Amino acid sequence: MKILVTGGAGYIGSHTCVELLESQHDVVVVDNFSNSSPKAVERVEALTNKKITCYEVDICDVELAQVFEEHQFDAVIHFAGLKAVGESTKEPLSYYQHNVQGSLNLLRMMKKHGVKTLIFSSSATVYGQAKIVPIDETSQLQPQSPYGQTKLMVEQMCKDLSAAQDDFTAVMLRYFNPVGAHQSGMIGENPTGIPNNLLPFISQVAVGTHPELRVFGNDYNTVDGTGVRDYIHVVDLAQGHVKALEALHQSNQFTTLNLGSGKGYSVLEVVDAFSKLNDVKVPTIFVPRRQGDVEICYAACDKANQLLDWETKLSLSDMVIDTWRWQTNNPQGY
Ligand code: NAD
Ligand code: UFG
Repeated sequence: MKILVTGGAGYIGSHTCVELLESQHDVVVVDNFSNSSPKAVERVEALTNKKITCYEVDICDVELAQVFEEHQFDAVIHFAGLKAVGESTKEPLSYYQHNVQGSLNLLRMMKKHGVKTLIFSSSATVYGQAKIVPIDETSQLQPQSPYGQTKLMVEQMCKDLSAAQDDFTAVMLRYFNPVGAHQSGMIGENPTGIPNNLLPFISQVAVGTHPELRVFGNDYNTVDGTGVRDYIHVVDLAQGHVKALEALHQSNQFTTLNLGSGKGYSVLEVVDAFSKLNDVKVPTIFVPRRQGDVEICYAACDKANQLLDWETKLSLSDMVIDTWRWQTNNPQGY
């Protein structure tokens, strides 16, 4: 199939491009490089020995039309957007513009050009403070941030379009905590500024960029008092996209799917695995809970396991080892 990948130069997008190309699909990338580098696309080409047609285009702009005029796509995998929860509370309009308006523009283009399959990067953040774990797809939807709201709004647009157009397929993939990097060490997460997320921060402590990891809260009702999350290796996640595309592209339905490992690890368990397996020091200090954090969050992934014939293969050990390989091979990022 010929696939348009929006945000294909980004962290999850670049890993998904590798898996798509290795599964013999053709890939066209659209990215404005606001949070990524064209080098990521070059590395994907080098890794797979295949070509990608890449456009520097913002999905909110009229130039997107030209991309649809030049190619007849079988499906779109839509990663492009902004993703920092904290920033979204300070700059909500940017989030509504890039995530909602950008998606609306994309859906309009798809409709105009008869492209009938969309795989969308949603997020576990749509569940907000879920009271019951594991979280399944029927859990209440109550996002706590503008970022989460934008994800839910795009889901709703896709649901409504799917109801209006019988042959439209929309698959909403709700990711839990993507971490790790490709085993080659050639592509990985490349955060700009001080990272908010746990694994990139641990890596930067291990290379000495920061003196210690601040662990947000050690008074949760968990195995060691620190927050528990469902970490999923980005390569497993990327393969989930290919499986979703291949299994559901003619389903003519709106489908929501959790993509996680179904297991929860505490902050200290992750730190411990990272320092032991990579033989590095990761000093930690305990600080008060971070506002908005939940105690425990992990996914029920039975629906994705069954519908996609997919399950995660990579462990916490793979996640921390691959993160560190990427970091040491690319100390300055791309
Ligand atoms: P990323 O920032 O690495 O990738 C997003 C890409 O989209 C970047 O290359 C960026 O330059 C591009 N982009 C942003 N706005 C654009 C626009 N208007 N037009 C064109 N390109 C644009 O992020 P990621 O971690 O790869 O996340 C991909 C998607 O998955 C995002 O939609 C994100 O919200 C979602 N998601 C990520 C996580 C996570 O923890 N990484 C969790 C849940 C959901
Ligand atoms: N943590 C620390 N110190 C840090 C960073 C994180 O102790 O410096 C802790 C957090 O308190 C939390 C865990 O590590 O317990 C994971 O935190 P992350 O920031 O890595 O991830 P979150 O679970 O907060 O959020 C992530 C993405 C969201 C997405 C959500 C879905 O950032 O975009 O997963 O579950 F919506």
